[in-house]
Amino acid sequence: MASLRILMVTAELAPFAKAGGLADMVAGLGRALVRRGHDVRILVPHYRLPGFPAATLALAPDPFTSPVRLGGTHPPVSLLAVPMAPGEPRLYAVEAPGLVPPGSIYGGGDDEARRFALLAHAVIPLCAATGFTPDVVHCHDWHAALAPLLLNGPGGSALREHGTRTLLTLHNIGYQGVFDAALTEDLGLAACTGLLPDPDRAAGQVNFLRAGIASADALSTVSPTHATELLTPGYGHGLDGDLRERSAVLTGILNGVDYGAWDPANDALLPARYSATDLAGKAACRAALAGLTGLQAGGRPLVGCVSRLATQKGLHLLLQALPRFLDVGRVAAVLLGTGDPALQAEFTALAARYPGRFAFLDRHDEALARLVYAGADAFTVPSLYEPCGLSQLYAMRYGAVPVVRATGGLRDTVDHFDPPTGQGTGSVFRDADADGLAWGLEEMLRWFADPVAWRQVQANAMAVDFSWDHQAPLYEALYRSLR
Ligand code: ADP
Ligand code: GLC
Repeated sequence: MASLRILMVTAELAPFAKAGGLADMVAGLGRALVRRGHDVRILVPHYRLPGFPAATLALAPDPFTSPVRLGGTHPPVSLLAVPMAPGEPRLYAVEAPGLVPPGSIYGGGDDEARRFALLAHAVIPLCAATGFTPDVVHCHDWHAALAPLLLNGPGGSALREHGTRTLLTLHNIGYQGVFDAALTEDLGLAACTGLLPDPDRAAGQVNFLRAGIASADALSTVSPTHATELLTPGYGHGLDGDLRERSAVLTGILNGVDYGAWDPANDALLPARYSATDLAGKAACRAALAGLTGLQAGGRPLVGCVSRLATQKGLHLLLQALPRFLDVGRVAAVLLGTGDPALQAEFTALAARYPGRFAFLDRHDEALARLVYAGADAFTVPSLYEPCGLSQLYAMRYGAVPVVRATGGLRDTVDHFDPPTGQGTGSVFRDADADGLAWGLEEMLRWFADPVAWRQVQANAMAVDFSWDHQAPLYEALYRSLR
């Protein structure tokens, strides 16, 4: 079958610009599609983050003046080609003075509206400058969600006539990009206001994600369960009605894992490597994690968690349930995460209350995250909602038995273990409260106390194969269906 031309538009891309799973998802899917013979290109803002390849080449001639206005002026925009290793998608970065301030992916406020509006505006000139006519412009989350709108507007007619179609993937509907309509002109949307959804025009706002939901040819999210959840008020974050209207074009495709980047047998960031058949290295990682955190795990299960500190992640359940176990020394636990200052303060206090039993690592650190996956016996994800979740998938491959809430992608990726049959990959609890999580941890403790059961559930978890090689063909089929 003919190969496809795909342009991904994203705010995050691992390893250069990562805040969460979005970065890993785009990198992993992009690589898998390249392996399958497709022409894949990725467009990101140039945040000038450390680690981003320095050797960029300006695409000549410099193609456009920014339609996005800053301080009453339209800065010049540079489109840069970023040299990548063989096997990687082609990477382009968009940069404009003041519009993409160096050093951070997000920044909040109107700055974000401008930098991500510019990202969407850059799609059409990028295609012109590179002579690339994508079959699909695959947009990720609200940051890229104006691209389908702009492609439906006057500037996109040439590409659309040549068959370019759009897919918007919703990774996290909790973040929509909602701004005052007074910004419409600054965002370069004057020619497209007729395409903005009515409720937003009535409310005097611009909602990037809602605009994308209304405009894209197809919509997807990152697990089948979440695709059905999104249609309900409990999960739709106010956009469930918009999604119900477009439910015929909404699908759920589970994320994959890039085992080239996530495998304890050759993870260069770990102090020791291991596999399911030889777990000695895992014991060394556990000892290293305990040493680093001052945890006295002993024979207790060491429970890990790596998470953005956000309401979505249900970490208040951890705050409420953990003391029941820490008080009586039944587990040791470590949390690695940054985010909400209130949660940060609560976990700092919890760590002070339980020295040697609970550790809080208030950092964003890739190597440390991998040490937690590798060093932990169990790994918890108590999310209120979780479109897919990658951390539980990494935990499984690294031999940390997941304790997760039955929601979204967590439900789709972890099966509750059943000792008599030996089937199952972790502990799955239902209720989003402290008793729910405590039940999930009790189940895990029961298996941990029985070495045969524990070996089985851990081996099952490590053996599950969530490779992108299985998931990328599902995107491929979706792209083809749009042509
Ligand atoms: P989300 O995208 O909602 O944050 P995911 O589970 O899909 O959730 O992905 C989270 C990703 O971010 C994982 O790769 C995880 O290891 C990483 N991560 C989260 N917090 C940290 C941190 N403090 N340091 C390093 N990596 C982190
Ligand atoms: C989002 C979701 C997470 C998902 C990730 C990658 O950040 O919160 O569940 O795994 O995107 O798709």
